[in-house]
Amino acid sequence: MRISITQWVHGELRRFIKQGDLCIDATVGNGGDTEYLCGLTDRVIGFEIQEEALFNARKRLKLKGYHPKFILDSHENMDRYAEKGTVQAILFNLGYLPGGDHSIATRPKSTIQAIKVGLELLKSGGVISVCIYSGGDTGFAEKEEVLQYLKQLDDRRYIVIKQDFYNKQNHPPLPVLILKLD
Ligand SMILES: C[S@@+](CC[C@H](N)C(=O)[O-])C[C@H]1O[C@@H](n2cnc3c(N)ncnc32)[C@H](O)[C@@H]1O
Repeated sequence: MRISITQWVHGELRRFIKQGDLCIDATVGNGGDTEYLCGLTDRVIGFEIQEEALFNARKRLKLKGYHPKFILDSHENMDRYAEKGTVQAILFNLGYLPGGDHSIATRPKSTIQAIKVGLELLKSGGVISVCIYSGGDTGFAEKEEVLQYLKQLDDRRYIVIKQDFYNKQNHPPLPVLILKLD
């Protein structure tokens, strides 16, 4: 049996999402996560800062018969496109576009700002998943800063679950789930 980190995160998220829920892919890239969300609900918005990635993702999704709303803008601005308290799930897959330019990647400051904004957009009972990468070209700054931010979230309002790939060598990805309670 083989299971990728992406499949793992998808499996965690699907428990929270039903048809008709509004969901956001905050880092569209090649569109794999957007495609997964579109299989669960027909209300999906995707954010990406690279036009070419968005073009390819749109093509891929169209071939599958999905038509999410794609937005060429930073995820920090998600609140310009969705109302507070209306979103069931937001997925962040941090880092750079696989097969793309490694210098264009998520950054600690904008990622943390986007998570803050995302928490406001979530309904109660909604979830944010953040898959954090580190090492190599990515470095460790984003992982450290995002984890530091998540640690201080009010535990009366949010549950933060960090899932370690405990026995995996070399800086494995770190999936984190944030559940909104109120
Ligand atoms: C690891 S990739 C995402 C992989 C993708 N979900 C998939 O299924 O292929 C991260 C993506 O985030 C994008 N990105 C970086 N900063 C961003 C920002 N501020 N807002 C939205 N997307 C951003 C990058 O351009 C890159 O395509």
